[in-house]
Amino acid sequence: MTTLSKETSALHASKENGRGATKEVPVLEGVVLDRSDPAFLARSPEIYAEARAKGPVVRARHYPFPRDEEERKSVVAGNRPTGDVLFVNHYEEAAAALLDDRLASDPYARMTPEQRANMPPVPEELRPIVYSLLMLDPPDHTRLRKLVQPGFNARAMEALRPRIQRITDELLDKAEREAAARGESAPLRQMDLVKAFAYPLPVTVISDMLGIPEEDRETVARLGELRIENRDPVVMQETRKHLVEFSRYLVELFERKRRAPGDDMISQMIQAQEDGDKLNEKELLSMVFLLYLAGHVTTVNLIGNGVVALLTHPEQLARFKADPTLAKGVVEETLRYWGPVDYLGATRTAKEDMEIAGVSIPKGAQVMIGLGSANRDPAQFDHPEAYDISREGAHRHIAFGKGIHLCLGAPLARIEGQIAFETLFRRFPDLRLAVPAETLRWGGAAGLRGFRELPVLF
Ligand code: HEM
Repeated sequence: MTTLSKETSALHASKENGRGATKEVPVLEGVVLDRSDPAFLARSPEIYAEARAKGPVVRARHYPFPRDEEERKSVVAGNRPTGDVLFVNHYEEAAAALLDDRLASDPYARMTPEQRANMPPVPEELRPIVYSLLMLDPPDHTRLRKLVQPGFNARAMEALRPRIQRITDELLDKAEREAAARGESAPLRQMDLVKAFAYPLPVTVISDMLGIPEEDRETVARLGELRIENRDPVVMQETRKHLVEFSRYLVELFERKRRAPGDDMISQMIQAQEDGDKLNEKELLSMVFLLYLAGHVTTVNLIGNGVVALLTHPEQLARFKADPTLAKGVVEETLRYWGPVDYLGATRTAKEDMEIAGVSIPKGAQVMIGLGSANRDPAQFDHPEAYDISREGAHRHIAFGKGIHLCLGAPLARIEGQIAFETLFRRFPDLRLAVPAETLRWGGAAGLRGFRELPVLF
């Protein structure tokens, strides 16, 4: 793990020694990039426009999630540590950076074995994330990704359509039944769209795929609730405790599946583990942990953000209702316009001195890739501030990343989104916000762009 002082000194060194320095790096002043702050998310389109005007790479401060014991103590104590990053914010450069193997996802990549050994231990609750696909480089990344890739390819996901449709209908049936039990009738029935629909849909799908037993799902949902962006010390402690319990639950579930395998992904991974030296116990835990969390925390926001985007752009909603085959367009344009991941929370580390757009990136520098900013780059998308569900080329957004870490679950998220939007507006054409749009506040779980609550009438 890098420490902040090391990060900062690496950046300063590049300025001082001038070696290979080509361009002065513009600085994004007066802003801390902090996607876990609702006020930041509300302003970020303007902030990114300002950054883009300065150049494809700017130096910026950011608020990192606590990555080691020291950082965490300082967060718990209420100090807001910030780190220096080189923020890549134009589309072309961001896409190229995602493909550049000189930028490592493994935060240890630039360290010698001795330096690694001397790093403070990763807190137990973060270990499954830190050792996951997201933070690995080849060859380990390649080996592990190969194991799970086939289960998530477009064909495998298409086969899931009927099941996803059924879960979608069951959730909407339930919302109707609950409204009827409260004595409400259309079009004045109420629901919190996130709680009743956007959250349970992807969480049920991924739980089914992994083979999490029905009777455990409530407990698992409580333990896996990611509130890592919440800075209340009590909540932070509780989240840590839950994540540790979640890992322990999974280890115990693996034991059960070893004894009685099922037709599910966890059983298949256990089988792969037993068949050869393909993944060890620690990797199995990380994989399942990541799939469960990544499998729903992001998609809930795709659904919520898309519904709000449509409801606040009535002309787009009218077009969609007139032509439901535009569901694909709704998904792609929502990902471009309000993608759940504003920027990659885990910075990339430069493994060697390099350059991006003429800016020198010294070895060890922390590079942050601005997906949300790239997706609003006017050089790539005409009128990027407009929400247009029939935009040509919307699918070129990089909301799912790119390159070797391209979102494994992208085909699944796309299908879930398409079915969700199509079914929701077909069954409830009067769906509308129950509160003024201006009162909605950003702030999805885990520092993602999304809404915690979405009161609607239907
Ligand atoms: C709208 C929904 C989603 C969005 C916006 C999203 C976004 C992303 C992004 C940006 C990355 C790349 C991270 C990087 O380059 O460091 C990523 C990776 C990943 N995503 Fe997603 N994701 C979504 C849904 C899902 C789903 C449904 C699953 C699983 C079922 C999933 C599993 C993963 C995994 C395993 C990785 C790591 C891939 C690797 O490192 O090789 N995601 N996702």
